[in-house]
Amino acid sequence: MDSPTFDRVADADRYEVISGGFDSHLFARAAIGSEDRVLDIGCGYGATTRLAARQASQGHAVGIDIAEPLLAQARAFAAAEGIRNVTYQTGDAQIHPFPEAGFDVAISRFGVMFFADPVAAFANVAAALQPGGRLVFTTLGPPEGNDLPRIIAAAVTEQPVAVLQSLADPERIDEVLTKAGFHDVTIDPVETSINLGTDAAAAAEFIVGWGGAGWPDTARDALVAAARPFETPGGVLLRSTAWLVSATVHP
Ligand SMILES: C[S@@+](CC[C@H](N)C(=O)[O-])C[C@H]1O[C@@H](n2cnc3c(N)ncnc32)[C@H](O)[C@@H]1O
Repeated sequence: MDSPTFDRVADADRYEVISGGFDSHLFARAAIGSEDRVLDIGCGYGATTRLAARQASQGHAVGIDIAEPLLAQARAFAAAEGIRNVTYQTGDAQIHPFPEAGFDVAISRFGVMFFADPVAAFANVAAALQPGGRLVFTTLGPPEGNDLPRIIAAAVTEQPVAVLQSLADPERIDEVLTKAGFHDVTIDPVETSINLGTDAAAAAEFIVGWGGAGWPDTARDALVAAARPFETPGGVLLRSTAWLVSATVHP
């Protein structure tokens, strides 16, 4: 249930602060053509779906996510931006009945890390791609290259880093995609910097407000302490690394 006081526009902005630095890598690799049909998996507030729709100006982009409140906001953003060739569908990408061979390219910005059965999920995506179609996504990189999960882990004991790390090992990524029917798997490290705010207190505020997670009051002080070592004159700067992954469905 969506809280009436939760600010979804601000929450969407937070996702861009955290992940937007990877867009140039994702879209350079995806090389979306003007007539492409694009699927965006786990699209959240759908910023990447709208970018894809702009590039596929004669085609279209479909964003899928299990979280309907995020998609409602995504539709509102698309309407405000006047983008007509984008749609957002509620569904579980693992089992969603996509149109067979209905897409030329599937993309995802950190939306493919949560599958209970990744092989089945990616096989479902492969079936949605036409022969020769390509899959391009970012997934969380190794823990030592990612300050944000470590700051969060320092502040709470029960948090989902293990889930996020489920697709962080290149050998596992290759194995999963190959078993799911993909070929030509390419995995490259990419890196960006996240600026969480002017100081550690602002960074803690950013994290507490992100995702409506319902943080305990005690977490704020722990987050401030964990963010303190990352304070610089230019703000709280965090290292963020990801794997940029691409693969194709054979013609
Ligand atoms: C880390 S967020 C990334 C959101 C968005 N791609 C972005 O970069 O802003 C992961 C998203 O994946 C969605 N998700 C998780 N499991 C999913 C599934 N099985 N099918 C569809 N979406 C899923 C979540 O609801 C969430 O919006």
